[in-house]
Amino acid sequence: MDIVGDIAIIKEPIHGGLDKGDLERLARALLRETSYIRSVWATASPVRGEYKLRTYTHLAGEERSWTIYKEHGCRFKVDIAKVFITPRLNYEHARVASQVKPGEVVVNMFAGAGLFSIIIACKSRPHKVYSIDINEHAYKLMIENVRLNNVEDIVEPIHGDAAKVIEERLHGVADRVLMPLPDLALKYLPHALKALKPRGGVVHIYLHIHAPRGVDPLEKAWNTVKNSIPPGSRLLHARRVRPVGPRMLQVVLDVEVAGSG
Ligand SMILES: C[S@@+](CC[C@H](N)C(=O)[O-])C[C@H]1O[C@@H](n2cnc3c(N)ncnc32)[C@H](O)[C@@H]1O
Repeated sequence: MDIVGDIAIIKEPIHGGLDKGDLERLARALLRETSYIRSVWATASPVRGEYKLRTYTHLAGEERSWTIYKEHGCRFKVDIAKVFITPRLNYEHARVASQVKPGEVVVNMFAGAGLFSIIIACKSRPHKVYSIDINEHAYKLMIENVRLNNVEDIVEPIHGDAAKVIEERLHGVADRVLMPLPDLALKYLPHALKALKPRGGVVHIYLHIHAPRGVDPLEKAWNTVKNSIPPGSRLLHARRVRPVGPRMLQVVLDVEVAGSG
């Protein structure tokens, strides 16, 4: 089960063996036993589509899909039906933010409701975070969240396709680029590299890696990307982020990309 603000989400496979009546009883029990949950939903589809959304079935409590979600001292308005949101990236948000140095320029290519961007802005005082998402609802929530956390001077929400936005206006600006969308990691890596300053910088590349027994997922991930980045670049750190399916892992590579000038 995931808890997002005051919403509880009962997920597969927990509800796989339960019928709707069982789920509703479980949901009512959750509302009775906890003081902070006001609305309970069950997932009705896997994460899918360009916007990485699920569909949900309402089970009990308020029939409301938006909430205020708190992470690392920041507050986010999110709507589980309209924007990708998972509490399972909590550690990752803080881990990346802790690497950002004051004065850096950051491009977040797949920003969702702005969690990485705003946590970075609050914790590390970069000069600028360009925060891109193609989903209009994510963009609108991001604007609200930037205001909610008083980081209007740092985070600039941008609505659009990250590749196009970088090509049109973010060439050579960034010290650091975040790519938190495994589906597009390899296809959009050339655009991430173009966003970096000529002296190079750091790219955080998120990938889904199939790792049967005996395969090291981190080594496999590095082998997947190392020929697509300039010579002289090096892997700073690799970590398993979370399991995403049978023998499928989300991993992240922090790569220091060598500059061209
Ligand atoms: C996994 S979610 C990002 C999660 C977010 N970084 C967080 O920490 O909560 C991926 C996001 O990429 C967005 N997206 C998908 N294709 C895109 C594209 N071509 N350009 C920009 N954003 C895109 C989706 O709308 C979605 O919000």
